[in-house]
Amino acid sequence: MAIFVTGSTGYLGSYLVAGLLREHRESLNLLVRASSKQEARERLWRSLQLHFDFPEFFDYLNSRVHIFRGDLTSLRFGLPEEDYVVLADSTDSIIHCAASLNRKSEKQCLNVNLRGSLEVIQLARRVHDRKGLRRWCYPLMEGRPLEARAPRELDWSAQAARASAGPVSAPPSDPLWRSS
Ligand SMILES: NC(=O)c1ccc[n+]([C@@H]2O[C@H](COP(=O)([O-])OP(=O)(O)OC[C@H]3O[C@@H](n4cnc5c(N)ncnc54)[C@H](OP(=O)(O)O)[C@@H]3O)[C@@H](O)[C@H]2O)c1
Repeated sequence: MAIFVTGSTGYLGSYLVAGLLREHRESLNLLVRASSKQEARERLWRSLQLHFDFPEFFDYLNSRVHIFRGDLTSLRFGLPEEDYVVLADSTDSIIHCAASLNRKSEKQCLNVNLRGSLEVIQLARRVHDRKGLRRWCYPLMEGRPLEARAPRELDWSAQAARASAGPVSAPPSDPLWRSS
């Protein structure tokens, strides 16, 4: 089983991934935006080279790190169905620290931070329904600390109600909402 981590190419996520690889034994499923496997590996290396030398990084890459090339703003992260199934079946914990901090684009912030987080919640529900989610964790905005909660404490029924209402939608007049 693995921990699914978003935002591993970012500032916070790279520290987190480095700590998990050095101080823990779990495998990591990382969501990375890239157009090829090679680009994904290179992007991850760029973010982690502050923490590891290349041989150590390469060792982790070939043993405990599994890269899923995807985007938070796409349905099921834009992964092919078989990859999404592999991701869901091999994940038992989630640390969601990807975000858009682009203050110049409310639309981007809304799509990544709200819509993207809902995609992560959909994955969490799927994992939880099938075998139980061990851990769910996300960094809060504005400098408040990382919050980790056991899934039992989460309001799954509210999330389920929202999810069963179908894809998230907003009034058509809302110019910030990405049409899909
Ligand atoms: N930095 C801090 O000191 C700090 C402290 C407390 C809390 N936080 C919170 O932690 C979160 C991350 O902050 P950060 O400083 O690490 O930000 P960051 O350096 O800008 O990293 C953002 C991460 O999110 C990923 N991302 C953005 N849009 C995505 C998408 N559509 N699909 C997949 N991945 C996407 C980025 O991937 P790409 O590389 O592909 O762009 C990157 O890995 C924020 O919520 C922030 O408020 C940060």
